[in-house]
Amino acid sequence: MEFIIDGKTIKTTTTQTILDAARQHDIDIPTLCYHKDLSPSGNCRMCVVEVKGNRFLQAACVTQATDGMEIFTHSDKVIQSRKQSLEFMLANHPAFCSTCDVSGECEVQDLAYDYQVEPPVWGFKGTRYLPDSDPNPFIRVDLNKCILCRRCVAACAEIQVRNVWGIAQRGFAEEISAGAGTQLLEARCESCGQCVAYCPTGALSNKLNYGMGMARAHQIRKITTTCAYCGVGCQFDLVVRRGKIIGVTSNPDAPVNGMALCVKGRYGYDYIQHPDRLMKPRVRRYLLDGDAKQEINLKDRKKNPKMEWVETDWDTALDIAADKLRTTRDTKGADSIGILTSAKCLNEENYLMNKFARQVIGTNNIDHCARLCHASTVAGLASSFGSGAMSNSMDDLARNSALFFVIGSNTTEQHPVFGTMIRRAVRFRGAKLIVADPRKIDLVEFANLHIQQKPGTDIALLNGLMYLILEKGLEDKKFIKQRTEDFEDFKQGVMQYTPEKVSAITGVPVEHLYQAVELLTEHKPASVIWAMGITQHVVGVNNVMDLANLQMLLGNMGVPGGGVNPLRGQNNVQGACDMGGLPNVFPGYQAVQDDTIREKFATAWGLEKSSTTRMEAKDFVLQRFSVHLPDEIGMTVTEMIPSILKDKIQALYILGENPVMTDPDTTQVKKCLENVDLLILQDIFPTETAEYADILLPGVSFAEKSGTFTNTERRVQMVRQAIRPIGEAKPDWEIIALLAMRIINAAPERINATAKYANWNYENTNQIMSEINALTPSYAGITHERLEKGDRLQWPCPAPDHPGTPILHTKQFTRGLGRFASVEHIPPAELPNDEFPMLLSTGRVLYHWHGGELTRRAKALMKIYGEALVEINPLDAEKLGVNGNHRLRIASRRGSIQAKAWVTDRVPQGMIYANFHFPESSANILTGHFLDPVAKIPEYKLTAVKVESIPE
Ligand code: SF4
Ligand code: SF4
Ligand code: SF4
Ligand code: FES
Repeated sequence: MEFIIDGKTIKTTTTQTILDAARQHDIDIPTLCYHKDLSPSGNCRMCVVEVKGNRFLQAACVTQATDGMEIFTHSDKVIQSRKQSLEFMLANHPAFCSTCDVSGECEVQDLAYDYQVEPPVWGFKGTRYLPDSDPNPFIRVDLNKCILCRRCVAACAEIQVRNVWGIAQRGFAEEISAGAGTQLLEARCESCGQCVAYCPTGALSNKLNYGMGMARAHQIRKITTTCAYCGVGCQFDLVVRRGKIIGVTSNPDAPVNGMALCVKGRYGYDYIQHPDRLMKPRVRRYLLDGDAKQEINLKDRKKNPKMEWVETDWDTALDIAADKLRTTRDTKGADSIGILTSAKCLNEENYLMNKFARQVIGTNNIDHCARLCHASTVAGLASSFGSGAMSNSMDDLARNSALFFVIGSNTTEQHPVFGTMIRRAVRFRGAKLIVADPRKIDLVEFANLHIQQKPGTDIALLNGLMYLILEKGLEDKKFIKQRTEDFEDFKQGVMQYTPEKVSAITGVPVEHLYQAVELLTEHKPASVIWAMGITQHVVGVNNVMDLANLQMLLGNMGVPGGGVNPLRGQNNVQGACDMGGLPNVFPGYQAVQDDTIREKFATAWGLEKSSTTRMEAKDFVLQRFSVHLPDEIGMTVTEMIPSILKDKIQALYILGENPVMTDPDTTQVKKCLENVDLLILQDIFPTETAEYADILLPGVSFAEKSGTFTNTERRVQMVRQAIRPIGEAKPDWEIIALLAMRIINAAPERINATAKYANWNYENTNQIMSEINALTPSYAGITHERLEKGDRLQWPCPAPDHPGTPILHTKQFTRGLGRFASVEHIPPAELPNDEFPMLLSTGRVLYHWHGGELTRRAKALMKIYGEALVEINPLDAEKLGVNGNHRLRIASRRGSIQAKAWVTDRVPQGMIYANFHFPESSANILTGHFLDPVAKIPEYKLTAVKVESIPE
């Protein structure tokens, strides 16, 4: 095909619109209603062009270029038409530019300037709408500025798949409207701000900074960085004016998310500059007075003047912290110290915490909140395949999965942008969706089948599905033969799970089992997606291994659109694991019990040869270079904290974690923390755990430092500093290094300073990454330079010229053959009885994050979800005489909370659902310390409770 645009001959074999063809050849055609991410609506007429021989001008965004066409993009007729279209727009668009938030970035303003069009004298002069007409706390709606381009309608329908916006009325009265003329939230708006991002005018804008932090385009800087909330790893631009963050805007080049963000990523940024931020180090007065903690009455710690906080300088705080840690190590032994690193912090910082624990202290007692969310995933997948991470990429799944099997993942609330990718695949590509979840989560609305198994019966369910696959002979025999082992043993076990037996255990109707198997076997490749509904059980590891069994049985491993896909929770929980923030592995999952590996790290870090025996405390001071890397696996967080009461742990150094909110059985956690000799907490806020701390070291938020995060799909991405550290806070990597140097300098003979990576005098995180590259094979080729250059890298990336690995296990599994594991249904640790007749399941909500430390300090998020709500089924509510205005008292064997009832059929009868975002009504006051025996993850998803209505 051949056609001419503005005299330029274009030859092509593809069918494309005139607009696409012109843009491909750098020929400018203006657009307004068109956006490349959205279906064209062809309504604004800004893109009109003249086609020789046609009486009427054609809209280039919706007209196909055809053979022999001769097109003129800037003829007099075209220019005149565009001017006229603009004039009509401006006639109904009062020129509010002087105070408009998006002035300078407004597409209508730009075009009016380009075409020198002013609002016509005959235009409508008044205002037709309230300038802030919707109560949504994030989105300012000013329809006076709307040009009816419909991009918002398309963005909500096609990106967010929510269909909140529509067009109402006709003629002059035509307007965009939320739902049937209602308000955004009532029309089920998720406040993602996609419509705002695509609006070309100021009709939809960010309400958070309106009238306070807004700025003209030329007054701001935009810094591209990575979201610090969830593991999806969206990128966006932080908008900075005069050293302050004043907003977040989409960055169309973001590798994972493009323009899409969720409500937390787009609007949950104001915690960064919250007045609660720790500005200076703090120590308890007794430390400055040189008193011993044991001599202080801790029962009344809040009133005891010796326990009051004193702000101090960095040298004082770090000297005390280093001295206390060193003394504890040298007198009580390295294993009396526990280190909690942070899934919120950079890879480089997590690497340093791992080095601090192992080189400086000499213990493997390092862990972090991955223990509480995906420890069972890491252990289960390592057992089945030899490595424990998401096998495929989100974009791959969105494009290629014929079926999504989502089990135990409330994806649209916990990984919202990936949730919308699934919705899009189902709605627009025809992919199938099975949701297996005791709750009717939002994704169920899009599902072909909702399997509502009883909590804690996943293995019975999965075995039941595999029984039917095997019975029908629909397993992938070739894959099983070539790529797996232990199949026969596994088969024998599974064949005990007849549909009737499974139905009795799980409560799932037999016909649903058959329907699920039909979907799974007829739509391949299928991806399995899970989160904490699978992992947070006493059988978490077995649950994960059974999902691996299912994917091997169906031959869905190592292929685009298939795989095992655990969705990691926090922004950098994958990275914190990758960097050795675990008690059994160095960075890159190199086992601490492997002599060769220990040797490698001992040599690099300037320690004498590794030892196969545990070192004694006295060895630290007696021998030159005598610190051996310990060969025993250290304690998990769920072991460290209880060990305080057994006098095994004397000191804790916690980076950015809040165990008082996040660990099970809050009362017991508090009791443990009350009894620890030394608690050093490094964080950005005085969190609930700070109450028990002796030293508070102020770290910084993601906006104040540079380095990398690794998202759930193993993608390493840059985090870039946008503003200076607030107050006297310091980047966490700097604090860890300062502490390490003080401890090392107090006994320099312990470490051979000439060893290549013995030292801690880092000037930036780039230097730390070089050390990671040298010692971590899977990260060997992932450098800041490559990432800054735009390389998109997922580990394993073993060399500087390696392109990274979007899909794992394509040719063979990390362990060689995939291992089928025979696993049995085991009932949950705590079942309902007469005294505690209901089941509590716990989790998070869309508007909050983790222990709520950040999101409770984001004011608009609090406006929309300002207190804990407990979901209760209408039938249970009726029995208790409860409606949506009532509060509930919920008690377990460990404690009780009060919270407002949300009467909803999202939860089945007999079950309630609570979150742990609010300290006064945290679900973890109720949960118990029941652990998976291998992964040591607690069973957060099941607690027996009694529920009462609190009289009004
Ligand atoms: S904020 Fe998101 S969900 Fe709400 S209307 Fe806009 S695009 Fe739709
Ligand atoms: S609100 Fe914005 S995106 Fe929506 S129709 Fe109006 S101008 Fe277009
Ligand atoms: S989906 Fe996750 S990473 Fe993306 S914006 Fe939301 S919280 Fe941030
Ligand atoms: S951009 Fe083509 S009609 Fe609006």
